[in-house]
Amino acid sequence: MSLIQVGKMRLNVVERGTGIPLVLVHGYPLDHSMWQGQIDGLANGCRVIAPDLRGFGASDVVPGVAMMQQMADDIAGLLDALAIKEPIAFCGLSMGGYVAWQFALRHRQRLAKLVLCDTRAAADTPEAAQGRRKTAETVLVRGAGVAAESLIPKLFAASTITDAPHLVEQTRQVILRTSPEGIAAALHGMAERPDVTAQLSQLDVPALVICGQHDGISPPAEMRQIASQLPHARYVEIADAGHMAPLEQPIVVNAAIEQFLS
Ligand code: MLT
Repeated sequence: MSLIQVGKMRLNVVERGTGIPLVLVHGYPLDHSMWQGQIDGLANGCRVIAPDLRGFGASDVVPGVAMMQQMADDIAGLLDALAIKEPIAFCGLSMGGYVAWQFALRHRQRLAKLVLCDTRAAADTPEAAQGRRKTAETVLVRGAGVAAESLIPKLFAASTITDAPHLVEQTRQVILRTSPEGIAAALHGMAERPDVTAQLSQLDVPALVICGQHDGISPPAEMRQIASQLPHARYVEIADAGHMAPLEQPIVVNAAIEQFLS
């Protein structure tokens, strides 16, 4: 792990392996550790780069609003800081996918391939956005436990909860360690994120769309629809997985990513 200066902020980054740069961007309110199975499994063929987004993990916290566009620019700044000029593969899960859309729209020339895991193209409804702003206020008063309580039951397939409770507990601990200011800023940023549905047909980059069979946050039907709107996308559904498919089923997810990148 190392802290890399990006503009006025430092981002914590884990790097492993050599080959095409593969940037793994975590979901909300997590950190790079959700990708441990990919860091271990994919670094023999790629240069895996797994940052903590602003406000998360060991990266600096910037209170206020963390816009998805800003987070995408942070990743571009990180690539500059690492002197990576060649086009990368960008893989984002959920909020990391919202950042991936913005990276594709704002930094197209830096992108060779796109992997979207358990994410959405649509914006929040006004009610959902309002709910996020309320949660942000509550987290600032009561702490990260509020986010853990509301989210943990929605992240995993029933089989993961039964067969791999350590993954659930590990994820809870990551959320509990996260800064309330970082969580609140991301909630405000997600509430304001643009709807990119109308732009999907213009994203002329090879894409892999991955969805856990039991994902209730970004369900298979919605992700299949995203894949059908992208000009060059393949859709892969992961059995016995929920919203955290790469964490729940790393071997199957890694095989899909490896095949897509080769
Ligand atoms: C995530 O996993 O990043 C969140 O579920 C995204 C969201 O709340 O929309």
